[in-house]
Amino acid sequence: MMAKLSQEQLNNGVICSSAGNHAQGVALSAQRLGCHAVIVMPVTTPENKWRSVEKLGATVVLKGDSYDEAQSYAKLCCEEEGLTFIAPFDHPDIIAGQGTVGMEIVRQLQGPLHAIFVPVGGGGLIAGIAAYVKRVCPEVKIIGVEPSDANAMALSLFHGQRVMLEHIGGFADGVAVKVVGKETFPLCQDFVDGIVLVSQDAICASIKDMFEENRNILEPSGALALAGAEAYCKYYGLKGETVVAISSGANMNFDTLRLVTELPDVGRKPEAVLPTFSPKEQGSFKEFAELVCIMIFQPTHDSRYSISFLVTSCCAGWPDEYYRIQTHI
Ligand SMILES: Cc1ncc(COP(=O)(O)O)c(C=O)c1O
Repeated sequence: MMAKLSQEQLNNGVICSSAGNHAQGVALSAQRLGCHAVIVMPVTTPENKWRSVEKLGATVVLKGDSYDEAQSYAKLCCEEEGLTFIAPFDHPDIIAGQGTVGMEIVRQLQGPLHAIFVPVGGGGLIAGIAAYVKRVCPEVKIIGVEPSDANAMALSLFHGQRVMLEHIGGFADGVAVKVVGKETFPLCQDFVDGIVLVSQDAICASIKDMFEENRNILEPSGALALAGAEAYCKYYGLKGETVVAISSGANMNFDTLRLVTELPDVGRKPEAVLPTFSPKEQGSFKEFAELVCIMIFQPTHDSRYSISFLVTSCCAGWPDEYYRIQTHI
């Protein structure tokens, strides 16, 4: 898309909003094309992500609590300052560019392929891959994967129209988008076979698997497709088939990594995470500790309570005991 810009547009500079890979892509392209780039990212963007964008010579503006707020700001700036807006997913050229991922997969195939699992945010990556792959290998299933708390595409496909999420989980920040694209949605309606939703714990379990098998550390959005592929293969009892899961990013933030190391066993179900509060009464923690066998205890703070804590491990008989404990807190 940026290669098509006129000299005048390049001279004026470009702007984009992104919580993920697009920011680095635009910054790198701008550096190569010798134009100035402004990248608007949500304030929640991990520092390592926006710093790597800055290193590529772009100006980073942290604005808004979500991708959608960052996008509104970027669109306002592009009108006021004459910058060209480079859409992160909702533009035919961006979708076509993403389609080259599908082309690479097809070119490297050495036998039948059952399915390709693709992480979904606004839908650019999956729309491009699906549009290409369904033309050349229509038998290959294209399965999108979304976090269960950022499921705009799954809901939109279910309702047959784009659905705007009111709340969105930010753990997989690269795909935390409240509404999918106008361009990407019809392509997904035509070419995507289904969407798998995965929990935060399952994503963490896949990050752990990838690390243990390949010594690569994926960011949550980057591990999404792997988690979806695992859930799908388990659900359908798939054996001996070839599937591809796109691991799309490795911008892991060190603080997130700490959380990730604690949750994989929850994804595999031997442990449970139970956030709870303790009232300001003497003996309340003792009472709680008698209820569960606490192995890890993390105090956090909430102004309403003297202490609050996160029990990251409880070794009661899963899952019945888990629900019993849940009803007590
Ligand atoms: C890590 C990562 N994975 C996947 C995607 C795909 O997102 P989309 O569906 O918006 O094309 C992104 C988008 O920025 C991303 O950052």
